[in-house]
Amino acid sequence: MAKNSVDTENLNIPNHVAIIMDGNGRWAKKRLLPRTAGHKKGAAVVEQIIEDAADLGIKYLTVYAFSTENWKRPKEEVDTLMDLLGNYLTNCIEKSEKNRVRIRVIGDKSALRKDLVDKIEELERISEQYDRITFTIALNYGSRDEMVRAMKKMAKEIENGDVKSEDIDEKKFEEYLDTKGMPDPDLLIRTSGEERLSNYLLWQLAYTEFYFTDVLWPDFNKEELINAIVKYNGRERRYGGIK
Ligand code: FPP
Repeated sequence: MAKNSVDTENLNIPNHVAIIMDGNGRWAKKRLLPRTAGHKKGAAVVEQIIEDAADLGIKYLTVYAFSTENWKRPKEEVDTLMDLLGNYLTNCIEKSEKNRVRIRVIGDKSALRKDLVDKIEELERISEQYDRITFTIALNYGSRDEMVRAMKKMAKEIENGDVKSEDIDEKKFEEYLDTKGMPDPDLLIRTSGEERLSNYLLWQLAYTEFYFTDVLWPDFNKEELINAIVKYNGRERRYGGIK
């Protein structure tokens, strides 16, 4: 083991890590580059972090790639983000057999470009068989929007007589969320020094440990991920009961 490195074998590895990848714009600004250059570097970091997470034994990684609010950004920036996502998805389709990563997309797909929706559907279908790690991309995602869509679906089934209101409990409600079947995150990481949830996985983060770092997303790497896990290991997890 190299000096100063962490012996990850003795770490309790979180099963599910959720990330708010923040700071791409500031990273670019510091280098006098356009904001889109920060997103490009950020996308390359995502690819590396999936591999690092899988190597560490993390089974679910969920990233906030585009929020329902992000449409308000300049058109050029939105287009770049959609192109980056499109390229990423194409790359995943080509490499799916080699990478063995299951890909899921959460969020409202109805407002996305048709070519993106087609790629997402193809990728979700072909990668369903893989379980090295499940990588979930939150795309046109907002937690309140997810819950409202869930409630609408549920209300329709009640109207149709398929579901009875007395049968609704937390477990039942989760079946209508985009994250259906996924365990809740154990650890949430937000980069760039911001300490907000920004409408991300509000239901799913109810018992999650939070880790905030000043590192900007394009500078994030395996060492930073391990730092977050070490901090997570130092906390005692409680679910309202006695330790
Ligand atoms: C926040 O930084 C970042 C985003 C809104 C986009 C995140 C997207 C990527 C990293 C690339 C695509 C993702 C995949 C899955 C390939 P910011 O622009 O708000 O930065 P700032 O706060 O410094 O302005």
